[in-house]
Amino acid sequence: MYNFARNLPASGIRKFYDLANSLQKQGHDILHMEIGRPVWKIPQQMKDFLNEAMNNDIYHYMDNRGDRLLREVLCNNIYTKTKKKYNPDTEIIVTTGASEGLAMCALALLGHDDEVIIPEPAWPHYKAVAELAGAKAITVDLPSDQDFIIDPAEIRKVISSKTKMLVLNNPNNPTGAVQPKKVLQELANLAEKHGFYILADEVYDHFIYDNNCFISMAEIMGSSDRLIYLNSLSKTYSITGWRVGYVCCNPILSDAFNKIHQYLTVCGVSTVHYAVSKFIQSDKNADFLSKMIQEFSRRRNVWAENIHSCGNFSYSPPSGAFYLFPRFSYAGLNSEQFCEYMLSEEHICMVPGAVFGAGFDDHVRISFSGTIDTQLKAQKKLMSFFNKIKGA
Ligand SMILES: Cc1ncc(COP(=O)(O)O)c(C=O)c1O
Repeated sequence: MYNFARNLPASGIRKFYDLANSLQKQGHDILHMEIGRPVWKIPQQMKDFLNEAMNNDIYHYMDNRGDRLLREVLCNNIYTKTKKKYNPDTEIIVTTGASEGLAMCALALLGHDDEVIIPEPAWPHYKAVAELAGAKAITVDLPSDQDFIIDPAEIRKVISSKTKMLVLNNPNNPTGAVQPKKVLQELANLAEKHGFYILADEVYDHFIYDNNCFISMAEIMGSSDRLIYLNSLSKTYSITGWRVGYVCCNPILSDAFNKIHQYLTVCGVSTVHYAVSKFIQSDKNADFLSKMIQEFSRRRNVWAENIHSCGNFSYSPPSGAFYLFPRFSYAGLNSEQFCEYMLSEEHICMVPGAVFGAGFDDHVRISFSGTIDTQLKAQKKLMSFFNKIKGA
């Protein structure tokens, strides 16, 4: 077997997801706080559009770049939000989720001598695909006591002549941090000065809480060829299983990406592209998005309001996305041991902090993408667990 695959650790998120599912199959009632999968029903109209596509016999291969109308709709959306105009024919590829988009970029762009800077904690795919492409991941730990805001001076320290790309996940999984404009601007300046690309993964851009201000890197780097903009409909529309992501960048890069994309998946799912393009253009779209975000704010506030009651957990309420990334301390356990313990004893499934970076072994990730009821139950369980050990 190819050495890379042999040595590649399995996804730590999926490991706990699988463990939780096997306990569930044995009849245990598990609180799934591990996976970032919005539990929110899609509107009937979206399903109707899917049926309409089937009835119109739209289920064949299509253009590698994806359905033309969907590309146009997505480019228009980016323009409305950021004033950056992407050409739907030459500057966007609709991929099989942002996951394929990321792998496509890495395989097209990175080579053996290249370095990719990844601020951590980070979604583990970035490191895995950089290494899959043969490049070296250079990680920079973000300060948990400053709400995981990037210090561009720390990034500057690791830039070298080999730096090809910086990954910027904003809002962030797993911390929920939303990076301020000044940081984005400084990172953009570094990219121009040192000639590397910024891969801006903004799949959580709709999930912003309180009055936090999210600014897209497309707004900051609109005129630059150095931006690779990655987004997805998975979380935004609660359609993680429909697998629709998209990558926008300059046409030369986009051409190269498209060559990789055609060998990876040929194209997305035409039926799904039809349905989502119709829905995004419909009058139900805005209402659906605003209701969903209100609901996610409620879930997030369950954790924000009870921040001090949650015993051995310390965290700030996240500004965006749908994760908490608290620090914990319990009986000297590391994050993997703690999550195993909490799953087997308390039936709460979380993800070890070490999955998101070796420096975060005293953290866990809690996803609040499940129902409000799940949040309340999980919180109650955690409180009673920490109270029990305090009294012991
Ligand atoms: C930061 C980040 N980027 C990308 C993705 C992948 O999304 P998709 O479902 O579009 O592949 C995820 C999924 O959890 C994510 O957390």
